[in-house]
Amino acid sequence: MRNKQRATITALVAAVLIMFGFWLLLRNIGQSAGHPLNTLAPQGQQSWDIQNLVIPVFAVAGVVFVLVEVGVLWMAVRFRRNREDVDGVDEPAQTHGNTPLEIGWTIAPAVLLAVLAVLNVQTLLKIDNHQADAMEVTVVGQQWWWEYRYDFDGDSQPEIITATQMVIPARKDVVVKIQSNDVIHSFWIPALNGKKDAVPGRTHQLVFNADNPGIFEGQCTEFCGLSHGVMRMQVKALPEAEFVKWKAAMVAPPREPSTALEKEGQALFVGQCARCHEINGLTPESTEPYTYAAAPSANYGEEVGSSLASKNAPNLTHLMMRQTFAGNLLALYEGDAATAVVAIPEGKPDTNNIKNWLRNPQDVKPMDPENNQGMPNLNLSEPQIDALTAYLTTLKSSLAPPA
Ligand code: CUA
Repeated sequence: MRNKQRATITALVAAVLIMFGFWLLLRNIGQSAGHPLNTLAPQGQQSWDIQNLVIPVFAVAGVVFVLVEVGVLWMAVRFRRNREDVDGVDEPAQTHGNTPLEIGWTIAPAVLLAVLAVLNVQTLLKIDNHQADAMEVTVVGQQWWWEYRYDFDGDSQPEIITATQMVIPARKDVVVKIQSNDVIHSFWIPALNGKKDAVPGRTHQLVFNADNPGIFEGQCTEFCGLSHGVMRMQVKALPEAEFVKWKAAMVAPPREPSTALEKEGQALFVGQCARCHEINGLTPESTEPYTYAAAPSANYGEEVGSSLASKNAPNLTHLMMRQTFAGNLLALYEGDAATAVVAIPEGKPDTNNIKNWLRNPQDVKPMDPENNQGMPNLNLSEPQIDALTAYLTTLKSSLAPPA
């Protein structure tokens, strides 16, 4: 009798503790503030579809888990062997070969899993659905940053190439074509959809449809070398009219440098940076803007046509049209301007961040430039850094108001 009471108390305590664990887990549902990568805080149609599958599946699995765990603990305590027990005397009835019981516990889980499988497949098909005229963005994983190519006329020559911050219209389907230029990465914006691996030589597809304008954070989720842990990205969803403005600004040429310092910086850029970073029309090999391979080359820096296949460094043509750089680690603008949901960022450029990066990029994130992975330390002097920073902060669309 003592065992029976003990078993009941154990089972009750276990049930309370397990419920408390579930409560800790569930109270984060819908919390995006301070949890930018929360998978349970959907802000897009596809992530809602996933949420609407996860919660019932989790509820069913949770009920099964509680019943099984509480039952196991109750039985372990209720029927445990006491010191004074004699083998073969007063043992519980042994159950073996009970056909109805065995058929029952085979069929019940099978039916349950079949139901869950149907719901899973339904959701998988649903999140792949998109409007026929949905905009396409090609996403290319690189060590350790993300490139975005917009090919609006479908001729395989992107009209816009940018990095780190992807810009899309809100409340519209956007088809994201995920590729890789080196190793396997994984593209994941939890507020908008699940994750998909970026695999060299393959194209994987996700569909985004943001509920509202906003900036949604992401993180590479496939180990891809030294700076995998800080390979971050953003999606900025703009109201449709603002997106049209962004697109027009991005296809316009960048502003020309005007001051002596900016021009000095431009000359330095051509000499030091243009080997890896492209600015459309700046150097002879970039005068034909956007002559890129249709798909990224599997080999580093392989020559494709007159230009390198996107090279291995971000295209900086409209650098200041983005709000973060260095794989989303550093802000390009000071204060709220770095997170404002606008087509054309306005505000004071964060020159300290740019200068810190130029002083030694490897202080900001670990890289291995000897093996063509990341940016080398160019050992620039302070006056060179000042000139380059002056030039880089001019790199904004000529349609944008002056900074
Ligand atoms: Cu890219 Cu991990």
